[in-house]
Amino acid sequence: MYLDYLGLREHPFSVTTDPAFLYLSRRHREALSHMMYGIRERKGFIEITGEIGTGKTTLCKALLRQLEDTTRTALILHSGLSELQLLQAVIQDFGLDPMRGNRFGLFNELNRFLIEQATLGNNIVLIIDEAQNLSLRVLEQIRMLSNLETDKQKLVQIVLVGQPQLRDKLDRPSLRQLQQRIGVRYHILPLDGEEVRTYIEHRLEIAGSDGSLAFTGEAFEEIYRCSNGIPRLMNLVCDRALLACYVLRTKLVDRALIQRSYQELMGQVPLSTSEPVKV
Ligand SMILES: Nc1ncnc2c1ncn2[C@@H]1O[C@H](COP(=O)(O)OP(=O)(O)OP(=O)(O)O)[C@@H](O)[C@H]1O
Ligand SMILES: [Mg+2]
Repeated sequence: MYLDYLGLREHPFSVTTDPAFLYLSRRHREALSHMMYGIRERKGFIEITGEIGTGKTTLCKALLRQLEDTTRTALILHSGLSELQLLQAVIQDFGLDPMRGNRFGLFNELNRFLIEQATLGNNIVLIIDEAQNLSLRVLEQIRMLSNLETDKQKLVQIVLVGQPQLRDKLDRPSLRQLQQRIGVRYHILPLDGEEVRTYIEHRLEIAGSDGSLAFTGEAFEEIYRCSNGIPRLMNLVCDRALLACYVLRTKLVDRALIQRSYQELMGQVPLSTSEPVKV
């Protein structure tokens, strides 16, 4: 709605995980390096945690783009799966037939695939997002998948990605075997104040801004203050602020506009979007 008025080609602050908008903060870069290292060095399990909205799913997708052609990957984004459903999802994502019978049959099928890929010199990676929601039984099954190995090397690297509760879950005595197999760990922290500014400028640039829309220094400070540097919150506040710009006929985002947008988001004042818009 506001794109033309603000000189933008597309929405800069959508809450989807479009990799075209990827911004690598120091923490995001480090998280990616840890994943790449764990995969290349075949460390078995890799654990990536971060608070809600810090960019974990975005990073999973970025990882897929960075891996070499000799790496075969499966990315599981839904965590409420049973043991059988998880196996089916993994097998399907590797491009195999998921209807090959029961768990035992699927396990064998996966094993055959892994050995075949290893013979071809390929590395296999299984990325499981939202892993904090996996049941203990499914986590135990994932541990069993990691047991598939030749005499020389692990056949599959498993990246578990999730909110901080994932760590607590893996701390449970019944999952100690899995926990001890984690070779690489990284916790993603939110952006710092300077990164908040460059993140926003980066997104505006990718969205094709013609430069007519501007944020004041105080607006950046305010965004940092109310979002604590969490990208999803920043996107929500900024998206609302741009809508307010359109409504108020301004192209300058200042501290007051951010405060107002944040309060609207939190439901503290009526939505300005419900006011009639003069065009
Ligand atoms: N490094 C980044 N570059 C660009 N955008 C990002 C980055 N990190 C997060 N975002 C944006 O922030 C929003 C939330 O990101 P994402 O969904 O990846 O977070 P998450 O950690 O997976 O959240 P949840 O804990 O709810 O699963 C998305 O709109 C995404 O585009
Ligand atoms: Mg996510």
